[in-house]
Amino acid sequence: MTSSPLDELDSKVSELLVAIAALDSLDALREAEPGIIGKRSILSTLQKSLGALVSEDRSEAGARLQRARHEVEQTFEARRALLARDARRQGLEKDRLELGDVVVDNVRWAPTTGHPGIIAVTQGQLEDVFVAMGFSVSEGPEVESDWYNFEALNIPPAHPARGMWDTFYVDLGDPETVVLRTHTSPTQIHLMEDAVRAESLPLHAVMPGRCYRRDSPDSRHLATFHQIEGLVVDRGIGFADLAGVIETFTRSYFGPDTSSRLRPAFFPFTEPSAEFEITCTICKGSGCRTCSQTGWIELGGCGVLDPAVLHAVGIDAEEWSGFAFGFGIDRCAQMRHQISDMRALTENDVRFLERFS
Ligand code: PHE
Repeated sequence: MTSSPLDELDSKVSELLVAIAALDSLDALREAEPGIIGKRSILSTLQKSLGALVSEDRSEAGARLQRARHEVEQTFEARRALLARDARRQGLEKDRLELGDVVVDNVRWAPTTGHPGIIAVTQGQLEDVFVAMGFSVSEGPEVESDWYNFEALNIPPAHPARGMWDTFYVDLGDPETVVLRTHTSPTQIHLMEDAVRAESLPLHAVMPGRCYRRDSPDSRHLATFHQIEGLVVDRGIGFADLAGVIETFTRSYFGPDTSSRLRPAFFPFTEPSAEFEITCTICKGSGCRTCSQTGWIELGGCGVLDPAVLHAVGIDAEEWSGFAFGFGIDRCAQMRHQISDMRALTENDVRFLERFS
């Protein structure tokens, strides 16, 4: 029997497979590649030697060689995938952050999971109370034009009532035309405009969000604070409906022991207007630093919508009427949790934050 160049093919293939299994890194694999599956490999050399065979032997040998090459290539690629996966794992392992206990001054701090802050929690609770009463929840922008923050709310330019809100202006467009909203009331205007456009009145909505005033922080005020605005536009709505909603809200949020009162006040966009107060929960009404010795804490303002506001957004004040209110979310949290100084909300003292985890 004449010898064929492929006599030793099987043992060559076995050698190659053993060599592949021994490759222990991507670098080693890259280095070995030309010798195993490239031009310099034993399989390529055998391929060339097939030319010497007579044609019928050649096609059979070619097919055999082809199968062997396929097997070696598949094994090589599988090895490459495995080594690449290991390299990726090792990389991740190396980048891993050790988040175990930290020891500072001999005190061991165990890692804890974060939790929503007290304002976010309070906002959610307030929304729940109003949703249960049939209100929907909407949000509006924090940067507003003068029209939304003031003019549409019946506060014309240079009107003395603007002094009620110490305003931060945004350096955009003409001077003093763009503001950081000083209250959530501009969101009322957006909602009414949308409802007019969609012909979807009546409206029953609350609108929570962040507001800004150039106030000096003290035990009851922050320059950045949160309000929840309420708005009802419907047929035959009056002050009694407003008083009923506020009473229901106080009872469900603060419990039956907290007294509330409405005191006559002035807002350009409501008439009549009132301030809404509850007994100070820190001194239970006897007077303390937080309530400036009055025994009462103001939560916000409210009133029956002034027809001028309905007119500004194109709602017929003969057919529709309504009321609005705006409460401080931070104040609600302060009273519910007896936080004697509001500035604690921004100080990030872990002992304070952990009280609400
Ligand atoms: N926007 C008023 C304020 O922040 C509160 C308010 C809202 C009063 C709605 C009446 C009606 O001072």
